[in-house]
Amino acid sequence: MTGRLATEYAAWKKLQQIYDEQHASLVLRDLFAQDPSRFSRFSTEYTDSTDSNTTLLLDYSKNIITQPILDTLLSLVREAGVERYRDAMFSGEHINNSEDRAVLHIALRNFDDFKIQEDGVNQVADVLNHMRVFSDAVRDGVWKGYTGKTIDTIVNIGIGGSDLGPVMVTEALKPYSKRDLTVRFVSNIDGTHLAETLRLCDPERTLFIIASKTFTTQETITNAESAKAWFLSTAKDQAHVAKHFVALSTNTKAVTAFGIDKDNMFQFWDWVGGRYSLWSAIGLSIALYIGYDNFEQLLRGAHGMDRHFKETPLERNLPVILAVLGIWYNDFYGAQTHVLLPYDQYLHKFADYFQQGDMESNGKSVTKSGKRVDYQTGPIIWGAAGTNGQHSFYQLLHQGTKLVPADFLAPCTSHNPIDHSKHHRILLSNFFAQPEALAFGKTEEEVRKELGPNAREEVVKSKVFEGNRPSNSILFPLLTPRTLGALIALYEHKIFTQGVIWGINSFDQMGVELGKVLAKNILAQLNAPQDVKGHDSSTTGLIHYYQQHRKE
Ligand code: F6P
Repeated sequence: MTGRLATEYAAWKKLQQIYDEQHASLVLRDLFAQDPSRFSRFSTEYTDSTDSNTTLLLDYSKNIITQPILDTLLSLVREAGVERYRDAMFSGEHINNSEDRAVLHIALRNFDDFKIQEDGVNQVADVLNHMRVFSDAVRDGVWKGYTGKTIDTIVNIGIGGSDLGPVMVTEALKPYSKRDLTVRFVSNIDGTHLAETLRLCDPERTLFIIASKTFTTQETITNAESAKAWFLSTAKDQAHVAKHFVALSTNTKAVTAFGIDKDNMFQFWDWVGGRYSLWSAIGLSIALYIGYDNFEQLLRGAHGMDRHFKETPLERNLPVILAVLGIWYNDFYGAQTHVLLPYDQYLHKFADYFQQGDMESNGKSVTKSGKRVDYQTGPIIWGAAGTNGQHSFYQLLHQGTKLVPADFLAPCTSHNPIDHSKHHRILLSNFFAQPEALAFGKTEEEVRKELGPNAREEVVKSKVFEGNRPSNSILFPLLTPRTLGALIALYEHKIFTQGVIWGINSFDQMGVELGKVLAKNILAQLNAPQDVKGHDSSTTGLIHYYQQHRKE
């Protein structure tokens, strides 16, 4: 991190000049026609250095770039000091400057490889062992509920990073799960979320995991208190809580005050950001669901990508390539969003997960040294599993007025090869076709040829696809725990790289604070209209309307 605005870098200025001079003539159809080796030039395969079965192919040839553009984007990475800053993260420097914290999710999946100096790092192995022993006991039926029955349902109560990672990963790795153990997630403070979940639970056979880094988050603590009250309405005796409630947190004092035994607490540390916490004790629901050995494979997969990010030259460094392509569209083409499109039903929560991962990290408008940026930072992340999206929002991707860079992801092999993989072949034919259609479109000439001389003019126009819409395609052999670990780490490091180039602190989340403070103030005023004070007329009017119409 250099303390400079991104627009001050020579490479940034050069990119602006290239964009201004060339963008009108940069057309994917032409670029492919001019260079038959474009795929091999602009694709690269990642192989985990300790497991050759874990590979990812990144094809980025369908991006609106030339070799000089890519070279300039990589110069920007060097000029912004990404490599130095990356090494600072890996060594435990306090790169989260506003909170004076190290950023060490990489230490949670390190297996003694990188040498890191920071309090708590030497306790990681002990916590992992605690998770292994506990998850084995629950899965093997050794851990029993207060009436001697085995556990058949896990309810993880947490929100944000204490929810989204475990939700996404347990969905993604369902094929590895113990099918007689159900995992459910309660995050929303809306009582409906808890109530509808508890309907499906037997208090004698349910284990509640209270997942909260701070153990002060209003939603989580309120849901946890209500879950405990529900449990005790059947179990009666407070002593039974020990068999049915465990905590994942950095805050021992608050955990014990809640009534959870210290022995049933799984520790982590302030250098684990909430949105990077699935690798920590927050992953306990994952370990319970897919077994500790598979959880460890997930960690090892991420570690493989960490090594790749740290050790591979920028030209072949997958996170760096994804990062600079994102910057090219976000900052020069004016793209506002980025869409994640996994062609794998098991990854249907992938975009939801990276909404927090990316938007909470890079949704910032001042630099680390407090300067207002004069360029765009983090994009809006969205997406859905293919092919569902094709029947809802792809119309806009193909023919709308907005440029939406896309990442397509797919496994070569399905965990569910129904009818000799007929389903999977159809799925993948769409995975291959959509980026092709986006990139190359359909010209007016092609439409006229297809419709014949009598076609109405407006129909011809409506059937033209301009094309030149960029995408990355990521293919991998099978969605294994190790591959998923690598994929998640790939995007984490992409987000990191972009944050360094933009000069922002990707590791705090001050933007969520104001709303929380205002809600606390309003909560104290909701009883009676005369209590409602200090607001604008809109907020006051809304609260009054609610007070007149509520029935409790
Ligand atoms: O929304 C802000 C945030 O702090 C997230 O970063 C975090 O993942 C979430 O709240 C939950 O926090 P905690 O784990 O402390 O309950």
